[in-house]
Amino acid sequence: MTTLARSNTMAQKTTRIGLIGYGQIGATVHQMIDADPDNGMEVVFIHDLEASRLADLPADLALADLADFAAKEPDLIVEMAHPDVTRQWGTTILEKTNYMFISVTALADAGMEEKLKEVTHKYGTRVFIPHGGVVGMDALLENREVWEEVQVIMKKPPKNVDCERAGIDPDSITGEKVLYDGPTRGICPIFPRNVNTHASIAYAGIGFDRTHSLLVVNPEWDKASVAIHATGPGIELKVERVEGITGVTGASTPASIYNTVQMIGSTGPGIHLR
Ligand SMILES: NC(=O)c1ccc[n+]([C@@H]2O[C@H](COP(=O)([O-])OP(=O)(O)OC[C@H]3O[C@@H](n4cnc5c(N)ncnc54)[C@H](O)[C@@H]3O)[C@@H](O)[C@H]2O)c1
Repeated sequence: MTTLARSNTMAQKTTRIGLIGYGQIGATVHQMIDADPDNGMEVVFIHDLEASRLADLPADLALADLADFAAKEPDLIVEMAHPDVTRQWGTTILEKTNYMFISVTALADAGMEEKLKEVTHKYGTRVFIPHGGVVGMDALLENREVWEEVQVIMKKPPKNVDCERAGIDPDSITGEKVLYDGPTRGICPIFPRNVNTHASIAYAGIGFDRTHSLLVVNPEWDKASVAIHATGPGIELKVERVEGITGVTGASTPASIYNTVQMIGSTGPGIHLR
């Protein structure tokens, strides 16, 4: 049998994917998975806290009660909703299947991190954290033993930050204002939906306690930026992305999340960048 003939007969397992959160990112990721019939991935359920978000989906895709997820036999569940999902469902999901969560601020809770690790060891499942809005996470991770200092500087318009939740009146902000300046561990519970990039940078690099976070807002800005500055002996990393922002999400993030889903779940043929 020739190599080609053999590959034509290779059975490819389809990766069954469950999505939690059908907002800006979740809906785009769903469309992107469905747009490529050769990627070897199939969305088997979609859950959202707000039932109205699922109204236009085929009835067999909309999962009203997340407690029923296992009946759909997913190989991977992707959270694109809120860090509460990991707090409430992370370990239950990992008793059955693999889990990728994009609301990475959940990891700033050291007890939560430990519980997630424990359950994966017990049940042989895996957790995935995407690079999401972070440019250069590979460089942080691959040199994580080398960095002595890592700084994250995030700049956003205040309307794209959950100021009220943090006890700040957004209308009182009339110029440039620093909302947080300190270790990354501390910023995550204050702005859980706004600083996932800080959490990913900390986890990839030198941890939540040693990474330094700065959050600055200014109503005159119409774009968001995240800059990383990491230094170690004989090495320096500087990277910054400036982009449009809608709600809590930068313009490039939905495609980035899809890219990570397909890195994990795609079983299709072709040339794959890693
Ligand atoms: N990792 C990253 O780089 C990155 C970047 C941007 C946003 N995020 C995070 O991704 C998540 C989604 O962002 P988005 O722009 O799509 O938000 P969005 O507000 O457009 O959509 C979120 C959806 O999740 C649903 N939801 C909220 N809490 C839920 C819960 N407990 N259970 C089930 N569904 C719930 C909402 O009803 C909504 O439909 C947010 O938590 C955001 O902070 C991560």
